[in-house]
Amino acid sequence: MRVKKVTKAVFPVAGQGTRFLPATKSIPKEIMTLVDRPLIQYAIDEARAAGIKEFIFVTSRGKSALEDYFDHSPELESTLKRQGKTELLEVLRDTNMDSGAIAYVRQNRPMGLGHAVWCARRLIGNEPFAVLLPDDVIASDKACLQQMIEAYSQTGGNMVAAMEVPPEKASSYGVLDIGEDMGSIVQAKGMVEKPKPEDAPSNLAVIGRYILTPEVLTNLNRMKQGAGGEIQLTDAIAEEIKTNNNVYGFRFRGQRYDCGSKAGFLQATVAFGLERPDLRDEFSTYLIDMMAQQKAAQ
Ligand code: UTP
Repeated sequence: MRVKKVTKAVFPVAGQGTRFLPATKSIPKEIMTLVDRPLIQYAIDEARAAGIKEFIFVTSRGKSALEDYFDHSPELESTLKRQGKTELLEVLRDTNMDSGAIAYVRQNRPMGLGHAVWCARRLIGNEPFAVLLPDDVIASDKACLQQMIEAYSQTGGNMVAAMEVPPEKASSYGVLDIGEDMGSIVQAKGMVEKPKPEDAPSNLAVIGRYILTPEVLTNLNRMKQGAGGEIQLTDAIAEEIKTNNNVYGFRFRGQRYDCGSKAGFLQATVAFGLERPDLRDEFSTYLIDMMAQQKAAQ
């Protein structure tokens, strides 16, 4: 199947991050660090690995630290150069983005994820695009979005990353009603946002990676006009199931961490800390001692 190449990605980062108050009073959630890299860097690296060329951030008031993060820092670079700290210089240069590769649009009020994506409509134009939620961090051999783009080349249409969750957890996610199950790709025949456990159509939950058609923006436009509360991205995608039957779930290979929650953020910190060759030995010894002490105290 010939599909149009996905070269644009939207990063909705306009949420308030209330689960991380008081930290998020002055720091955007997306700047919080796993080991030594902000959450947003993981999402950007994943998108780059998947061939994304244009990065669209939907920001809001109080997110200037995020915008500054992607600026070049010539003073710091020349200091590191003078001091011969070439490794650190490389680390810093890896975060540099090409001029014009990043665009920012504002969401004036936090009216939901669907509304945030809608705010980027003019920059997206009439082509397929990816959406990455930076608080979902995915550890995998091949970047999750890259896996999705490969699967999308077979299906076209809309694709959402999905993973199996226990029934009692389904109410925290959008959940897919599964039509044809082709293994890693499933055809969706419905999609429900945060169902009660007894109403969940399956245990396949949608997480924060999407490849979407411009028709989803048209659906969001309609919802915007009739909106009272938050505008859900799930509803605009579910509309595509009804009208075009072209929504697919993709069971990605990898481990997803919900870094928008405290427990998920801590789990990711441990997992990424243990992955790092420079930290692994010291950190694992510490964790083993700590667990032994906890056990002894029980
Ligand atoms: P969350 O549901 O995690 O909301 O948003 P939040 O505001 O970031 O955090 P809490 O729940 O208050 O702790 C999921 C993603 O959608 C973006 C967020 O920035 C996050 O990346 N978002 C959400 C927006 O950009 N705008 C919104 O109005 C809502």
